[in-house]
Amino acid sequence: MENMILQLSYLIGSITFIMGLKMLSHPESARKGNIVAAVGMTIAIFATIFLFKDANGQGLHNFVWIFAGLAIGTVVGTLAAKRVQMTAMPEMVSLFNGMGGACAMLISMVEYHHMQHSGVASGTGTMVVIVLGMVIGTVSFAGSIIAWGKLNGSIKDRTIPAGQILNFLILGGIVVLSCMVIGGMSTGQSLFYGIAILAAMYGILFVMPIGGADMPVVISLLNSFTGCAAAFGGFLYDNPVMLTGGILVGSAGTILTILMCKAMNRSLKNVLIGSFGGAKAAGPAGAKEQGAYKEISLNDTATLMAYASKVMIIPGYGLAVAQAQHTCHELEKVLNEKGVEVIYGIHPVAGRMPGHMNVLLAEADVPYEKLLEMEDANDQMGGTNVVLILGANDVVNPAAKEDPSSPIYGMPILEVEKAEHVIVNKRSMKPGYAGIENELFFRPKSSMLFGDAKKVLQSLVSELKSM
Ligand code: TAP
Repeated sequence: MENMILQLSYLIGSITFIMGLKMLSHPESARKGNIVAAVGMTIAIFATIFLFKDANGQGLHNFVWIFAGLAIGTVVGTLAAKRVQMTAMPEMVSLFNGMGGACAMLISMVEYHHMQHSGVASGTGTMVVIVLGMVIGTVSFAGSIIAWGKLNGSIKDRTIPAGQILNFLILGGIVVLSCMVIGGMSTGQSLFYGIAILAAMYGILFVMPIGGADMPVVISLLNSFTGCAAAFGGFLYDNPVMLTGGILVGSAGTILTILMCKAMNRSLKNVLIGSFGGAKAAGPAGAKEQGAYKEISLNDTATLMAYASKVMIIPGYGLAVAQAQHTCHELEKVLNEKGVEVIYGIHPVAGRMPGHMNVLLAEADVPYEKLLEMEDANDQMGGTNVVLILGANDVVNPAAKEDPSSPIYGMPILEVEKAEHVIVNKRSMKPGYAGIENELFFRPKSSMLFGDAKKVLQSLVSELKSM
């Protein structure tokens, strides 16, 4: 009976994970999706703690350790998630992902240790699962910690001399030692822990040279590694909910990695060997040699917008840096009061993490239906009087369509030049993430409105209110 309830709890857990993941794909249902999956996870955890019995009919013990761990994890996780700044979210995801990898690593180590001491010979299949779970979990743990350090600035990007050859050698070492352990050529523990050390070195060396700003793609990749490692844990314990959860994380992470690469028009290899090139080539002077650009005053911007019938706001990384989402929503409301329709054009990789702009604007209570995906925004561009670009750069760079030699050539962009007027707000003429010049700023339709996005928006709101 108890086992039946346990299996039913696992089924409920698996179903809620799938439902939660599906709900996460829309901003309106995302919050609920998170809760649904968390409830499923809670059911699975408590069912395991109280109902699981091993082959000898023994239940779990060590409740003090289990509940102390649960309590510490809950407190740390809740506080971290509540306190994190939106721009530091990839950092936190990376750290949490690293913990998942560490769990998978520890599970494999504990099971290997058990097998060594139980004296019962294990099958090759079990050994493959243990070793793979340990290797992938360790790579994910070490890599995620490096990614976390790079994103919070405590670890600098470092190219290791002959790094790729070294990585290749380490990978070769992992494969050889793993075959020896799986094939039973070594029954001692030193070889097994030797693999763990090599896997940790691989995780560190693999992430170390990658450009800090490329981290979201790498984190998503490491996330899929953690999912796979957890799925191996599910195989090991014959635990369906762990298996489902691991497979879902693994596949979702892989799909997200591919989508991000596609939206940036970069191959995964290109991200991993860090060759967005332009960042090194352009330098801070940026687009100086392009020619003259026009500046527009706050007053003229306010007038242009007040007399427009449709304004499209294009948010980018700079809006997140300036934390100007609330002021942006205020501008939208003031314009609405003046009878101006305001919509937002959202590029899939605007900002620095998937859905960055959606989350940022949702935080400021901007209605979801006003956020247009890139294709819909481009369809509406022709009927738009004023496009206001707030701290976006690469996602509106026409070089992506026009210059085959550009590193971003082929990346789909928001085609702002189809609108009547284009106003660009940023602090200087410096390039964005890709480190390349943006000819849009010099085009006849474009005008530059320099300044920090928050301050500029505050002044715009006051101008409009006084009109
Ligand atoms: P970017 O191209 O990075 O441009 C952001 C611009 O914001 C900069 O040119 C900067 O110019 C301006 N800015 C910075 N602080 C500002 C402030 N306080 N006020 C006003 N402007 C400010 O941003 P984007 O257009 O959003 O493009 C995103 C880039 O990140 C893409 O290249 C994308 O491939 C990459 N990326 C995205 C992701 C995801 S998943 N979203 C992941 C990895 C990489 P100034 O310095 O002159 O102000």
